[in-house]
This record gives sequence, C-alpha cells and structure tokens, in this order.
Amino acid sequence: AAPVTHEAETATVSQGAAESNHTGFTGTGFVNYDNTAGGYVQWNVDAAQAGTATLTLRYANGSTTNRPMDIAVNGAVTSSGKAFAGTGAWTTWATTTVTANLKAGTNTIRATATTANGGPNVDHLKV
Ligand code: GCU
Ligand code: CA
Repeated sequence: AAPVTHEAETATVSQGAAESNHTGFTGTGFVNYDNTAGGYVQWNVDAAQAGTATLTLRYANGSTTNRPMDIAVNGAVTSSGKAFAGTGAWTTWATTTVTANLKAGTNTIRATATTANGGPNVDHLKV
C-alpha cells in the first residue's frame, strides 16, 4: 500500500510541544521535544497485515549535536539510540528510516529522546 503520513503534531506527545515557527514542515507544524531525556512522540499506525515495514521519520536538528532516540514498536525498543544528526538549520528537514515488524491492526510507534538535549524537531512519521 502507499505510505501514509502520520503527523507528529497530532500524535501523543510527552515532554514536548506542537510548534510551527520553523518553516518547511508538513501538516500544521512539528513537535519540539523538551531539552530533556525521556520525551516522546507516539503514533498509532494501522497495518492491514502483519509484516516488515519501513518507518520514515522526518526531522530537523539545527544543533551540531546528534539527538539520538529510541524507536519502540508496540512497547518494545526495536532501534536503540537511532541517530538524528544535525541538519544544518531548524528549517532544514531530513528523513531517516528504520525497519520494523508490525502486527495486523493498530500498532504504536514511539520515538523517545535519550539524552539531555532532547529529540530533534519531528515533523512526521511515514509508514
Ligand atoms: C531552538 C529551536 C527549537 C528547538 C530548540 C532545541 O529553541 O527554536 O525549535 O527545538 O532550539 O534546541 O531543541
Ligand atoms: Ca527542542
């Protein structure tokens, strides 16, 4: 099936906020993670059938420091310390992918910041 875009600003957010002050996002904005470890964005993603899926995360990191995040699927971390390197500017958006196994039906995908810098600004998840 064609990939579906799941916006961050309409997902469940802990220790972060929906903002729109840096251009180039899709939807109505992006999530600005608080500059602390443990903040997350969590999406509900429906899969028609069980199997392997490519998860594409779109983000911006205007700092020069990697902002790694743990990617968890249905409560289990499947990609630990996934790198979200600097993109050069908060208005410069990049994508990175992880592969995950999804079950048929509703899956939760959570991206949790693992360092005191927090996560990057996250625009969306495409599955
Ligand atoms: C700046 C920027 C934010 C970003 C933050 C950060 O304040 O405007 O969008 O989230 O830096 O370093 O996390
Ligand atoms: Ca931030």
